[in-house]
Amino acid sequence: MLYDVPVNLGDRSYKIHIGAGILDQLGGLCSAAGLKGKCLIITDENVGGLYAKTALQSLESAGIVAQIATLPAGEQTKCGEQVFALYSRCIEAGLDRHSFIVALGGGVIGDLAGYVAATYLRGIPFVQVPTSLLAMVDSSVGGKTGINLPEGKNLVGAFYQPQLVLADLQTLETLPIREYRAGLAEIVKYGVIYDAPFFQNLEQNIAELPNLGNMDLLAKVVGRCCEIKAAVVAQDEREGGLRAILNFGHTAGHALEKVAGYGEYVHGEAVAIGSIFAARASVALAGLSQAECDRIEQVFQALQLPVHAPGYKWEDLRGALAVDKKTVAGMPKFVLVPRIGTSSIGNEIPEALMEEIWNNLG
Ligand code: NAD
Ligand code: GLY
Repeated sequence: MLYDVPVNLGDRSYKIHIGAGILDQLGGLCSAAGLKGKCLIITDENVGGLYAKTALQSLESAGIVAQIATLPAGEQTKCGEQVFALYSRCIEAGLDRHSFIVALGGGVIGDLAGYVAATYLRGIPFVQVPTSLLAMVDSSVGGKTGINLPEGKNLVGAFYQPQLVLADLQTLETLPIREYRAGLAEIVKYGVIYDAPFFQNLEQNIAELPNLGNMDLLAKVVGRCCEIKAAVVAQDEREGGLRAILNFGHTAGHALEKVAGYGEYVHGEAVAIGSIFAARASVALAGLSQAECDRIEQVFQALQLPVHAPGYKWEDLRGALAVDKKTVAGMPKFVLVPRIGTSSIGNEIPEALMEEIWNNLG
């Protein structure tokens, strides 16, 4: 089973290949995309031991000379020190302008390796091989690469598109269940902001989604998310406007992650709570019906994602919202949904309403 989604960006166009058990096709797909010579596979210590050998052998059997760089797992790896260490590793591996990088892992590895590829020798090609659900439906597609600074997340980066994306759904079998469910929150997002029939389809199949099982269903779901992201990015690659709809649920979600001290909630869990915050605000301000808001909440609940965040004071959350990247003159901006399947960006929510919604989420 191989399901291809094109990302149409003129001379930066590429394909997303989705299937179960397709990692061993990596070398052939790289060759077919015109990649050859030397390559550095960048991975983390959780993913590397499971999948780097298959990736390496596949590349070698396509005549590509590959080496592996394995980094510690976790968000702290997405930093400047690792970027410089990787530049040295690229030189050691003899990578020149005709060589390429393979990012094998979750969003941390994808963002970091993509940024190294964007900047090493002023840019060499790279390939995304996402192994977390979040990376498959979001971070590996669309060309946002970058690293964190001590001052904040994703503060340095580049828009830099990969040559291809290969998402092998079978790799999800080893992903911790909590990370898998966190990825489901981003999947719900696509239905809510862009595609009402897709949202309905998720509702109809909801019992099958919280645990990995039905690979055909998952391929269709991941494929549809990639199609939506590709369509949005094709219209607004550098987030001049439309692309910001992908931030639905992320304004309050990021603030909660920060207040809770990264770790208590994984990203997708915070996004689930942030999405409910935005949906309730949409009822008050954007005309979303209470019935549709309830459906959104029920989907998150059925996916076994958190729908309450008890114990966090509004003052603390408001403080975190004030320093959000999307905040202008102290007022955070939200993506709101007038109806399931449509969305608008840049909305402000009156102070008293934000506080009331938050207090009801506790
Ligand atoms: P992650 O890369 O830290 O992966 C989560 C955990 O799962 C890690 O411990 C990892 O080692 C492990 N893992 C991944 N795949 C596995 C597998 N198949 N088997 C076993 N373990 C596996 O986190 P993530 O949730 O994938 O990505 C989060 C990152 O993505 C953040 O840094 C975020 O800023 C970034 N992001 C970027 C974009 C973008 O557009 N570039 C979009 C969303 C998120
Ligand atoms: N994850 C949001 C974006 O790619 O724009």
